[in-house]
Amino acid sequence: MDRTELSRLANEARKNSYCIYSNFSVGAALLTKDGKVYTGCNIENASYPAGICAERTAFVKAVSEGARQFEAIAIAGGPEGEAPDDAFPCGICRQFMNEFVNGADFEVVIVHQDLTYTTYSLEELLPHSFGPESLKTLE
Ligand code: THU
Repeated sequence: MDRTELSRLANEARKNSYCIYSNFSVGAALLTKDGKVYTGCNIENASYPAGICAERTAFVKAVSEGARQFEAIAIAGGPEGEAPDDAFPCGICRQFMNEFVNGADFEVVIVHQDLTYTTYSLEELLPHSFGPESLKTLE
């Protein structure tokens, strides 16, 4: 799937955002290597830290359905009712995504106001990461 369509799906996913505290809606569209898309939005909570970001919602949906091979995620976020505006994933989401992908091979597609986008690798956004490999004990 091309990244323009993935960006459109991410922006579409913002419509279901539950963001009554921040009024900042975020949508994500996660593409698997076999071409399936899982979308997600941010879901806030009266107990603020209990809320979840759009990117993790998408990953949780995908992983819980058995998906394990991921190619790219598009992220569209901005004030509710307005165009998206370069919403980068938070640190927790970068770490969460890093668990399931090779950072050098996984694309993070950031959606601009006019729905064009810029692509980064997760490794660019989370260099020197701590991941599953870091926990392997030395012989
Ligand atoms: N948010 C996301 O959904 N993804 C991010 O990577 C950054 C922040 C959400 C969390 C909260 O609901 C709102 O944006 C404002 O922080």
